[in-house]
Amino acid sequence: MVSPSENSSHGFYASTPIYYVNAKPHLGHAYTTIVGDALVRWHRLMGEQVHFLTGTDEHGLKIQQAADAVGMAPQEFADSIAPLFADAWKKLNISNDDFIRTTEPRHRAGVQKLLQACYDNGDIELDKYSGLYCVPCEAYFTEDDLVEGNCPIHKKPVEHVEEENYFFRLSRYGDRLLQWYADHPSSIVPDYRMNEVIGFIKQGLLDFSVSRTSFSWGIPLPWDDKHITYVWFDALANYITAIGYGTDDVNFNKHWPVDYHLIGKDIIRFHCVYWPAMLMSAGIEPPKGWAVGGWLLVGGEKMSKTTGNVVNPLDLIDDIGLDGFRYYVIAETPYGADGDFTYEGLIGRYNSDLANNLGNLLSRVATVVGKKCNGIAPAPRADSPLATAAAEAVAETMARWADVQPSRALEATWQLIRATNAHLENNEPWKAEPGPDLDAVMGDALEALRIVCILASPAIPDTMQTIWERIGMPGQVSDQRVPTSVTWGGYPGGATIDKGEPLFPRRKLD
Ligand code: ME8
Ligand code: MG
Repeated sequence: MVSPSENSSHGFYASTPIYYVNAKPHLGHAYTTIVGDALVRWHRLMGEQVHFLTGTDEHGLKIQQAADAVGMAPQEFADSIAPLFADAWKKLNISNDDFIRTTEPRHRAGVQKLLQACYDNGDIELDKYSGLYCVPCEAYFTEDDLVEGNCPIHKKPVEHVEEENYFFRLSRYGDRLLQWYADHPSSIVPDYRMNEVIGFIKQGLLDFSVSRTSFSWGIPLPWDDKHITYVWFDALANYITAIGYGTDDVNFNKHWPVDYHLIGKDIIRFHCVYWPAMLMSAGIEPPKGWAVGGWLLVGGEKMSKTTGNVVNPLDLIDDIGLDGFRYYVIAETPYGADGDFTYEGLIGRYNSDLANNLGNLLSRVATVVGKKCNGIAPAPRADSPLATAAAEAVAETMARWADVQPSRALEATWQLIRATNAHLENNEPWKAEPGPDLDAVMGDALEALRIVCILASPAIPDTMQTIWERIGMPGQVSDQRVPTSVTWGGYPGGATIDKGEPLFPRRKLD
């Protein structure tokens, strides 16, 4: 039994799915990865020891077929695509601590250890299988699952397969899973996804195949090397192999169990049913949490290579800027719900929230301080009318990050931006004479901006660092701590304010 008891109470481990290397990174992958990045940046602000994992899923029939189609060996093919993901995440300012590829030796060692543990526990047995398989899903279906004879997800014909395979006895785990979820009712967010998982388990669980003999691209079973590990068993294991399961027990015990697996709703069964059962079988604690996102649709369809409606996130950052793009994907869609990507929506969000609200606040403050305070920042008042708005924004922002609702967290932070713009409009410092009254109004606005910089930094880190410097704050905004650094009154005053170029010039839809 691997004990998670040494796990530090201040650790925070989060993961994204590992993406298939049959496609280049698209907006859907970027969405889950950016939300995960913002979440872990928030937890770093909370002073937690974060470990953030992403990577690529490189084995299985789907990848072998994709490699065959372009006349490459599967390893060579995977080697050509995996760096596109790593590079895209660099360009999107993703702060992952590790990047696992399932073709790495550390992963193979851990997968074989996990298989052996389930096998030794009697949960993996040889059996005959005859049924239906969808290669794009890498999943088995029953006749009832099909929609007009096709895969319900890809709407393409399934294959009839007949093989002698090893099976994982998932059917033995129904009651244990139901009990576990009853004991951990908040482990799946948003909570409405829990019902779906419970409903699925209650229908009765079927054993699932963990090996194939009809192709060779994957990890051989440790006790029978004619069999290649089923790609989902292989892929799910990344969450433990990357942190040392099978190669580094100390590191493994430091991070496991994971705090959140961020996943899309398409892979909820694998993550919330198969995976905890596999872990239970091997004597490993299930995850602490799953954060399930909806799909970003384009023209009402899920974006996918199979459908051909792919949006490249790197084109969008060239157009709207890195933080304009990050802000849009986090703010536009409540995490869990489906969202519809439109270019009009992207420009609209940018203009209203970034150009008008945030950009305007910064430029007003810098202009008035430049003209009427000799460019030197006044200090805030202890009893400012904005202090309550700030305290409310902090409390609400913290609560929404804690529920993994980043769009709502940003809404709460933007309430403070709106309150600060209203404070300026009420006091009209641009019309007032220089003096203590005007200084007080401007000191308050600067303090609100300082707090906003910290609260919004997980979503748009580069922009917030720039504003932090323009208002004369030293060091890195990411080194601030919540809640200590966001209590009212931390802005010292006396700094030189740098007006700079507009951060978010208004955009026309053209
Ligand atoms: O399923 N909208 O990989 P995958 C939102 N390798 N999110 C989307 C999306 C969309 N249109 N399209 C993709 C696999 N995603 C497996 C995972 S994990 C052990 C193995 C995101 O390349 C979403 O997070 O098909 C989804 O779950 C994931 O990409 C699937 O990526
Ligand atoms: Mg997919």
